[in-house]
Amino acid sequence: MTQTGHEPKPVLVFDSGIGGLTVLREARVLMPERGFIYVADDAGFPYGGWEEAPLRKRILDLFAELLATYEPEAVIVACNTAFTLAGTDLRHAFPDMRFIGTVPAIKPAAERTRSGLVSVLATPGTVKRAYTRDLIQSFAAKCHVRLVGSENLARMAEAYIRGEPVSDEAVLAEIAPCFVEKDGARTDIVVLACTHYPFLANVFRRLAPWPVDWLDPAEAIARQARRLVPLIEGAEHPQGFDFAVFTSGKPDFSTRRLMQGFGLDIADTSVKAV
Ligand code: DGL
Repeated sequence: MTQTGHEPKPVLVFDSGIGGLTVLREARVLMPERGFIYVADDAGFPYGGWEEAPLRKRILDLFAELLATYEPEAVIVACNTAFTLAGTDLRHAFPDMRFIGTVPAIKPAAERTRSGLVSVLATPGTVKRAYTRDLIQSFAAKCHVRLVGSENLARMAEAYIRGEPVSDEAVLAEIAPCFVEKDGARTDIVVLACTHYPFLANVFRRLAPWPVDWLDPAEAIARQARRLVPLIEGAEHPQGFDFAVFTSGKPDFSTRRLMQGFGLDIADTSVKAV
């Protein structure tokens, strides 16, 4: 798709916290001409433990405000917990907007596994979703899929990426249930079904009881975004554009520093957290 004669509108990347940065870094590679607005609903973080109805409402209300304020070209919902819950509602509520979603990479895992034992490491919210169960039924009916809902890993990933200490024992306790041995076969793929987790991938690799593929969908999400966002001939990335919005309105020092490292200014304005 090619579009000419327009200023390139930005792409909005959304997550509950800083996990969506794992998707942003891939999206930038494929869409260098686009400005990016990174939105973290840190006032609602973590999403993993929320009841479904209030979280759905929160996300829909927030997007009404975000889309009116920033008028993006497209939105990457870089959060499994949000998209598996509210992706369909968002598309329904804002039919003119392109939403690129993030869902557990169960289909590619089922295609790749040799042992037939696949684990899905996600937030408690994502493992409970009907959406996730449907993915397993539709694409992995022949596999043995272990769903592992972690209470603590998203927080640990946030701490780790900010440079705070995270203990090996604590991480191992969260990932250990992913490793299954059954009839002489072993889990060979673990789906990283929370965008925070790729930040910990090296720690996971080091602590894993045996080597597995840790499936990070970030690049596939970025490719899908590139397919949906028109490439504008001759357009260049708007100078100094990329910025981050925190619904708390007050990200701490280490978060600000992290954002700087990703080339994101912190917007003064904040959207209202409900
Ligand atoms: N990054 C989010 C996801 O992909 C979840 C983190 C949270 O619990 O808020 O599911």
